[in-house]
Amino acid sequence: MLTRLALLSLPFAAALASATPFKGYQQKVKESIHGPPSGWYKYAPAPKHHILELKIALPQPKFPELEQHLWEVSDPSHARYGAHLSKQEIEALMAPHPETADVVRKWLALHGLAEENITRSSANDWVTIRVPVGLAEEMLTTMPRIIMFTSTLRLERASSGPRATVSLRSCTTMSILFSPLPCLLVSRRSRARCAGTNHVRPTDSSPSGSTITGPAGNQVDASCNSTITVSCLRQLYNAVDYNTSATNGNALGITGYLNESTNNIDLQQFYQLQSPSAYGSNYTFVSIHGGENNQSYGAAGLEANLDTQFGFGLTWPTPGTFYSTGGEPPFHSDLMTESNTNEPYSYWLEYVLSQDTIPQSISTSYGDDEQTVPRSYAIRVCNGMAALGVRGVSLMFSSGDGGVGDGVVYPDQPLKHQCYSNDGLKTPMFLPEFPASCPYVTTVGGTINIPETAAYFSGGGFSNYFRRPSYQDDAVLAYLATLAPGTYKGLYNSTGRAYPDVSSQSVSFSVVYEGQATLVDGTSCAAPAFTAFISMLNDARLTAGKTALGFLNPFLYSAGYTALNDITEGRNPGCQTEGFNATVGWDPGEFMNAANKATFYTLIIIAVTGYGTPNFEKLKVLVLAM
Ligand SMILES: *[C@@H]1O[C@H](CO)[C@@H](O)[C@H](O)[C@H]1NC(C)=O
Ligand SMILES: *[C@@H]1O[C@H](CO)[C@@H](O)[C@H](O)[C@H]1NC(C)=O
Ligand SMILES: *[C@@H]1O[C@H](CO)[C@@H](O)[C@H](O)[C@H]1NC(C)=O
Ligand SMILES: *[C@@H]1O[C@H](CO)[C@@H](O)[C@H](O)[C@H]1NC(C)=O
Ligand SMILES: *[C@@H]1O[C@H](CO)[C@@H](O)[C@H](O)[C@H]1NC(C)=O
Ligand SMILES: *[C@@H]1O[C@H](CO)[C@@H](O)[C@H](O)[C@H]1NC(C)=O
Ligand SMILES: *[C@@H]1O[C@H](CO)[C@@H](O)[C@H](O)[C@H]1NC(C)=O
Ligand SMILES: *[C@@H]1O[C@H](CO)[C@@H](O)[C@H](O)[C@H]1NC(C)=O
Repeated sequence: MLTRLALLSLPFAAALASATPFKGYQQKVKESIHGPPSGWYKYAPAPKHHILELKIALPQPKFPELEQHLWEVSDPSHARYGAHLSKQEIEALMAPHPETADVVRKWLALHGLAEENITRSSANDWVTIRVPVGLAEEMLTTMPRIIMFTSTLRLERASSGPRATVSLRSCTTMSILFSPLPCLLVSRRSRARCAGTNHVRPTDSSPSGSTITGPAGNQVDASCNSTITVSCLRQLYNAVDYNTSATNGNALGITGYLNESTNNIDLQQFYQLQSPSAYGSNYTFVSIHGGENNQSYGAAGLEANLDTQFGFGLTWPTPGTFYSTGGEPPFHSDLMTESNTNEPYSYWLEYVLSQDTIPQSISTSYGDDEQTVPRSYAIRVCNGMAALGVRGVSLMFSSGDGGVGDGVVYPDQPLKHQCYSNDGLKTPMFLPEFPASCPYVTTVGGTINIPETAAYFSGGGFSNYFRRPSYQDDAVLAYLATLAPGTYKGLYNSTGRAYPDVSSQSVSFSVVYEGQATLVDGTSCAAPAFTAFISMLNDARLTAGKTALGFLNPFLYSAGYTALNDITEGRNPGCQTEGFNATVGWDPGEFMNAANKATFYTLIIIAVTGYGTPNFEKLKVLVLAM
């Protein structure tokens, strides 16, 4: 065990060893990392003066009450459906116990940190400090020292490529007391590990003018079977004639991480091509924790361009907001994800929960292997998402493109199976994604073609962190019953939250990127597309004087699914496997063939479509009747 991570456990029986004013409390290790990331080596203690940003998560004793509100206000059959809570009410439910807050304040003061050295979230449930390594080590007596890792050997091995200078940056930018604090060095700049935007190609030639039958039974342009545009999605999902309002209070949010920037010139060019009435309109940009919106071509931006172009283009004139959140969250490496590209969701949540008004529908196309996200951090982030649900926000996340979880799963790419646990035991397992695995969000998988079938890369599976929420018991148990007994035993957790919940087209989206029309694939496409239709439903409800839909899943699993196009076709043979079949009703994703368990995992992905794709007009009838 390399780095030990500290936890101050409250309230706790034994006394702290040293003389402190905190009788009755002790520090204990709650989570720790089990060695350096693969390809990295232990280097040296971090310099004492190096500044760490530590985020301290105070326990939220009233979270069970908050969760109860979530189930009630999101359940169309409950008397309180739509009775969302205010910012102040939510903050009261997320706040720490006053005694906890007081003990932490005293503990910080003991180390010279006064109120002026502390940043607090609006619910006071997060406390952020910036302290030198030396002080952090003093404060966290269970953490002997903070260690730096180096990737030197790795770079030497890759000596045929461009020589990289090994720059050592020490340790964590973020940690959580009362929760984990993994301490990692990331010395190379990582590309976005977005859930999608894989395979980029030039666009196909223009449409022929003929039509084919779409999933809603209407005629759609035949070109939509090879290139997806704003017009195609409106045709396919039965919303051709629906106009949104600019002024009914409805709004759409798109999140960005990892410095993904949306290029304003590309956006206008996209509008000219695909959403002409939106041409000349703009969005609101919000930078959180130093997040960028760098307008240079060459800055990272394919993901952000995709998300904003389709999100805003489909819903114009609904006002749009693009959030760019900077920073790095805690992280446990696994074989798939050697460096830290995990997204700092807690910064975004802290910001958005502090706002009086929040867009009612928000799309996120970023995700991480669940096991690389420390469990306590994942739980805290997921709790924040529940809070947004109670405030009336629908959160959509893409399900990921890794299928079983080795990240890049394409027929033309050799599979390098890395589906193992990262707890030091290297146990073979599927790798679910987070936040897709959070039970308080709606997770969107991908489809391809007309008629729609499951896309070969679409991610799905079962969480190892979150139990199956009761809203999906029937759907998931029915699916599990179709598997032969013992199928994939030990490789997935049948009691975990299963995803995706729904899906959308996800292949050959025509975006403008650096001045060029470009086709992109991925569940990254599916999330903003699905979210746009949810935003239109919210628009219809607000115009009718009703509340926003808020957390969608209780509705989707009880009634909404009847207005979704069930995907029953699609099986995805991976390497040397027979593949699984899509089923009628709900289906999850990712499965791995266990045949050669000890040596080589072959991979297959089954239909990963949840309950399927939207039929807007049918959904509108349902949501206007609630
Ligand atoms: C706390 O803030 C004060 C005022 O900015 C600063 O002088 C002091 O060094 C800070 N203390 C620590 C421990 O960072
Ligand atoms: C939507 O707007 C377009 C353009 O302004 C208009 O032609 C159309 O009739 C509108 N549709 C509805 C259903 O109001
Ligand atoms: C984002 O850009 C800033 C400034 O260029 C840089 O300091 C930071 O490391 C970048 N963050 C990520 C996650 O790439
Ligand atoms: C649109 O908004 C972005 C982000 O706030 C800003 O940088 C840009 O200048 C705006 N463009 C126009 C045409 O107003
Ligand atoms: C924006 O991106 C370009 C291209 O990657 C880079 O050269 C430039 O330094 C970035 N600007 C900022 C402010 O980070
Ligand atoms: C759509 O394209 C797929 C793949 O090329 C093809 O199998 C299917 O028949 C096409 N659909 C229609 C309605 O032509
Ligand atoms: C399986 O999921 C449950 C939650 O549903 C969790 O408590 C348990 O730890 C998971 N098992 C493994 C091996 O991850
Ligand atoms: C998929 O369906 C085919 C045809 O019905 C069947 O032969 C095959 O066994 C099924 N595969 C699985 C894994 O259920």
